[in-house]
Amino acid sequence: MTDPAKARSHGTRRAVIGLGGALTVLLTVAQIAATPAGTVRHALAATSVWDSVYSAAQAGRGDSTFRAVCSNCHGDSLAGINDAPPLKGPFFMKNWDGNTLAKLFNRINNDMPSDNPGSLTKPQVAELAAFLLKANGFPAGSKDLASEPDSLVSIKILSKPQ
Ligand code: HEC
Repeated sequence: MTDPAKARSHGTRRAVIGLGGALTVLLTVAQIAATPAGTVRHALAATSVWDSVYSAAQAGRGDSTFRAVCSNCHGDSLAGINDAPPLKGPFFMKNWDGNTLAKLFNRINNDMPSDNPGSLTKPQVAELAAFLLKANGFPAGSKDLASEPDSLVSIKILSKPQ
């Protein structure tokens, strides 16, 4: 037989735990809201492809790899041939506008070249991504684009600067 007093105290404890959980959530939300926007921007550094996220030298290495491995399908001028789509201009930007550089990195890393996927090293993939950024008119800077997709999730591909 259950003791009604015990059952009641059990219920009360559960209610207290529930309230504590809700308070923690509220406090976390309040903390995030209180963080100055400048701090967040500084911590994440580059937020879009307009923030000079690759170097010209890196894009140059990507250009060489592109000529050797990709241009037979995508074309010397990146205009696309048959099934292989253009990798610059409105078609490319329509597909990628609003996506992150991590997604573009993974797309190249996992699927390209489509006749030999997985054959590129990560630095080569970053160089190819840098080359595509250059070809699409995004500015070069002093630092190389990282070769790890985790570092690229905060960088958005945007057709216009925000
Ligand atoms: C054998 C032909 C072939 C080669 C070589 C090739 N691609 Fe592709 N690529 C394709 C085809 C076909 C598609 C579209 C269908 C698909 O995703 O498989 C594509 C799609 C892509 C896309 C996605 C385009 C979009 O807007 O969605 C990117 C980026 C890309 N290729 C980059 C590269 C890079 C970089 C290389 C060189 C490392 C490369 N490709 C080599 C055939 C090729």
